[in-house]
Amino acid sequence: MKQVIVESFGGADRLELHDTPDPQPGPGQVRVRLTSIGLNHADLMAREGRYKIASGDPPFTPGIEGGGVIDAVGQGVSGDRVGQRVILTPDAPRNAAGGLGGTYRELYLCADDQALPAPDAVPDDQLGALWLPYLTAYGCLVWKQQIKPGDVVALPAASSSVALAAAQIVKHHGGVAIGLTTSPDKVERLNQLDTAAYDHLVVTHDADRNMKPWHRDLRPLAPNGVDVFFDPVAAGAYLSTEIKCLAQHGCVWVYGLLGAADTVDVTPLIRKHAAIRGWALSELVAAGPDAWLPACRRILDGFAEGWCRQHVDAVYPLADVRRAHEEMHRGRHVGKLVLTP
Ligand SMILES: NC(=O)c1ccc[n+]([C@@H]2O[C@H](COP(=O)([O-])OP(=O)(O)OC[C@H]3O[C@@H](n4cnc5c(N)ncnc54)[C@H](OP(=O)(O)O)[C@@H]3O)[C@@H](O)[C@H]2O)c1
Repeated sequence: MKQVIVESFGGADRLELHDTPDPQPGPGQVRVRLTSIGLNHADLMAREGRYKIASGDPPFTPGIEGGGVIDAVGQGVSGDRVGQRVILTPDAPRNAAGGLGGTYRELYLCADDQALPAPDAVPDDQLGALWLPYLTAYGCLVWKQQIKPGDVVALPAASSSVALAAAQIVKHHGGVAIGLTTSPDKVERLNQLDTAAYDHLVVTHDADRNMKPWHRDLRPLAPNGVDVFFDPVAAGAYLSTEIKCLAQHGCVWVYGLLGAADTVDVTPLIRKHAAIRGWALSELVAAGPDAWLPACRRILDGFAEGWCRQHVDAVYPLADVRRAHEEMHRGRHVGKLVLTP
């Protein structure tokens, strides 16, 4: 099979496609022929050596999500599983300790119960691209924050796959979803996208990427303030503006590292009894299947019921993995980027 291996940290040119032996399923295991591997910023950071907690030292295979079709089973697993369309559970990819256990490959071995049957509503190219956008948003907004009907939720990086998923989840729970985008040139695409569930969109930067006084556009949309910011950009003046716009008892959830570190004025938190908290999907995964399995099922139901609908911006053959990483780095996309072996 083909498998991507990073032999040393660095740019996209470090992603090498290797021929490796087809893995054979052992007792209790299934083999998944991957049709879909979601691309994530974490993969770029791992390749650059900025996410060693996940990648370990090279050599390693990137990739933290995947899905496809079971093509072989080991001893003790029903032969009926062969041919089933499945999604790897969020705890299945193991590129931490093992190094070579990431999903950038054609064939993936996992335990039988780590391959969840997928509903017909999830297309083949999305089988491996659901959990990072949807579980990241669901885990924070529903499992931790427990958003309520009427809550005003602001979603920076509005064109990102996580924010697009978050807006659908907010709307489904009766909240108001306000997208914040740094890219004026993406507004028209977002407005035309039927998978973008935002009630409103606010542009935070001008065409030269200088931050605007965007609180002036946000305030009329949220006269009592914003209850929740769910933010991968949070830093410096951007985060100070969010704090200024928070409602009483509001919360800024920080889940990404897209902003450049800088000074932040936290003093309004005092009179608002408000908070800044950190969120990582790993918290939900570490809480075990009793926590994440119901969340996975809720999202799969959401696809079957139609309130979850993902926008895939582009699908790249696994052999084009370098180009896919370069595109994600450029940040011109809207929604999810996917690799398909
Ligand atoms: N904590 C967790 O568990 C977890 C899980 C998944 C993802 N994440 C993080 O969530 C973020 C979004 O992930 P994603 O996969 O949805 O990414 P993505 O689809 O590639 O989205 C990136 C978007 O972020 C916005 N952005 C704002 N400032 C940026 C900057 N300085 N550099 C690059 N992009 C910037 C842009 O949206 P606009 O043009 O609309 O502003 C850009 O299109 C990443 O930081 C990722 O690491 C965290």
